[in-house]
Amino acid sequence: MQEFISAIDIGTTKICALTAAVVHDSLGNLTLDVLGEGQTASQGIRRGVVVDVPAVTAAVHEAIEKCEAKAGQQILSAYVGMAGSHVATLNSQGVSPIDQRDGVTNADMQRALEAARAVALPETQEVIHTIARHWTVDDQSEVQNPLGMAGYRLEVDAHIVTGSSTAINNLVQCIVTHGIDIDELVLEPLASNEAVLRPEERRMGVAVVDIGGGTTDIAVFADNGLCHTEVLDVGGNHLTNDVAVGLHAPFKTAEELKLRYGNVIPERVAEDEKVWATVFGEKAERSFSRRFICQVLEARAMEMLELIQEQLRKSGYLERLPAGIVLTGGASQLPGFTELGRRVFNMPVRVGAPRSDLPISGLSRAFQSPGYATTVGLLLWGLHEDARAVQRGFEAEAGGEEAAWLNQAVGWLRNLLPG
Ligand SMILES: Nc1ncnc2c1ncn2[C@@H]1O[C@H](COP(=O)(O)OP(=O)(O)OP(=O)(O)O)[C@@H](O)[C@H]1O
Ligand SMILES: [Mg+2]
Repeated sequence: MQEFISAIDIGTTKICALTAAVVHDSLGNLTLDVLGEGQTASQGIRRGVVVDVPAVTAAVHEAIEKCEAKAGQQILSAYVGMAGSHVATLNSQGVSPIDQRDGVTNADMQRALEAARAVALPETQEVIHTIARHWTVDDQSEVQNPLGMAGYRLEVDAHIVTGSSTAINNLVQCIVTHGIDIDELVLEPLASNEAVLRPEERRMGVAVVDIGGGTTDIAVFADNGLCHTEVLDVGGNHLTNDVAVGLHAPFKTAEELKLRYGNVIPERVAEDEKVWATVFGEKAERSFSRRFICQVLEARAMEMLELIQEQLRKSGYLERLPAGIVLTGGASQLPGFTELGRRVFNMPVRVGAPRSDLPISGLSRAFQSPGYATTVGLLLWGLHEDARAVQRGFEAEAGGEEAAWLNQAVGWLRNLLPG
């Protein structure tokens, strides 16, 4: 078990590092106490993918240094978020015979998962996650944890996440250069949902949609488990860019206008309200209609929401989300997003920040906002890994013959199923 857990979130607009001590609370549960936080503006990332290794390496260094200085100690290893449209996901099945004498063993479960993982992939892709969704023992389906169950045939429904080897190698390079080991690469929507979803939402069926700067990450929970993940190439930068193009203004000016005056429901701002900004080729500021800026934002936000809806429809889960959509990520804070989302989806929509009841203390207010769902989620992912390590320790003490084997998938399932 680790004493400290760290997370590095390399986003399109910002790079964040968090480091926390693992603490046993009075009930014996594991919790986290955040010791250090670091953040810097991102460089060398486009749409969630590293396009300039030296630039990203330098920015990561800055975030890590700030975090380490606050924590007063070095980061030795970290959970690292990963996104980008190179990520592909699929659901797959695997089967293994059961050693009848002992019931289902960890080894049986691993064999079933390995069979599920054996999907044909292009040479340039590799598997990042194999997540058990459901188990079936003979004719009993929807088994959450089959360990020890009697039967002949074990089957697993697994969610497989793959990514481009080149993109993965570049990302890894930017971290390990600093002497930091990677505990695990974690697909960003898998991290962010940990921070924002309520257990009952996951149980009912929900999609968490993390709208960042360069990507929109989707994770769908239905049928009592994770069923779909996806990374789309759109984000808040597209909103800013449209304003920049619409006003002939620099990106930085457009970003400021968006953050200050933006609303994706133009009727909510007065028709005659004016805002002032400098445009290309002119020294003096000139005035613009605030409503016009909001109309530009509305058009793009609608397009993004409709794209998300279309992808959910394609995945086959759009009609299976009684708990609706939870929007998170920096761009979800643009006023009016929830309302526009409700109009487009015609289902419950809310904006989710890292929950206040998470087993984490010492997190600054800044990190409790929707833009940090992934960063905080990565820490939680690590904490659950630690909880599994403790579990394995107990099994080892009990002398279980496969105790040493890390049955990651059992843990994933526990992790992703309702609390
Ligand atoms: N208060 C706010 N209102 C509106 N938009 C905001 C607000 N705060 C941040 N944003 C927007 O959110 C986006 C950044 O979101 P976030 O920090 O989640 O992205 P990221 O993690 O850097 O990128 P990604 O995850 O896409 O790689 C930017 O487009 C920014 O303009
Ligand atoms: Mg992000």
